[in-house]
Amino acid sequence: MLTAVVFTGNTGFTEKYANWVANQLKCDLFRLEDVTAEDLKKYPLVVFGGWVKGGYIQGLQELQGKVRGKYIVFAVGALPKRDGDAARFKEKNGLQDIPTFYFEGGLRWYRLTEGQKAALLMYKETLQSFDYRKLSANERFFLNNIGRTFDHSSLDGVSELTDFLESERGQKLTAD
Ligand SMILES: Cc1cc2nc3c(=O)[nH]c(=O)nc-3n(C[C@H](O)[C@H](O)[C@H](O)COP(=O)(O)O)c2cc1C
Repeated sequence: MLTAVVFTGNTGFTEKYANWVANQLKCDLFRLEDVTAEDLKKYPLVVFGGWVKGGYIQGLQELQGKVRGKYIVFAVGALPKRDGDAARFKEKNGLQDIPTFYFEGGLRWYRLTEGQKAALLMYKETLQSFDYRKLSANERFFLNNIGRTFDHSSLDGVSELTDFLESERGQKLTAD
């Protein structure tokens, strides 16, 4: 099935995953900002990747406005992947019926805009004002990592998405 990977990112992690997915699937790759509905018309399947901000997948609405056919989603965030997060994440983004995958990216503090840094530092300050023992695992992660630069991206996670597409179609799609 003719497939396109479309992505939007901020500091490079989503772009890296989009390249990995497109290489594995041997398919075309577009930036969301550059692709039109007309361009996407010929693809029966679009794999969309967006970075996560405040729990929301960026670019999702723009993508939905450009895609007429079937799409699946991968989200890239700084948080570790945890069991049980997926359902809440899908619900928050209105993706209950859409296959959705989460890939661990990282944080490139030096590439963020001043506004983005300020937003995260404000969040950190709020978390600091709470009793640490009462914070969730995700809140603790942000408290300990906002302001740092780290890369948790890994090609390993990508096979979950490519395996899903293969099993759905009962045929091998990925590059050997
Ligand atoms: C303002 C802001 C809010 C963020 N919110 C989240 C979040 O809710 N969950 C998460 O996992 N990561 C969050 N992140 C981290 C990014 O999603 C993470 O750095 C991701 O790897 C960025 O991908 P990119 O390099 O493609 O932009 C946030 C980052 C910024 C700057």
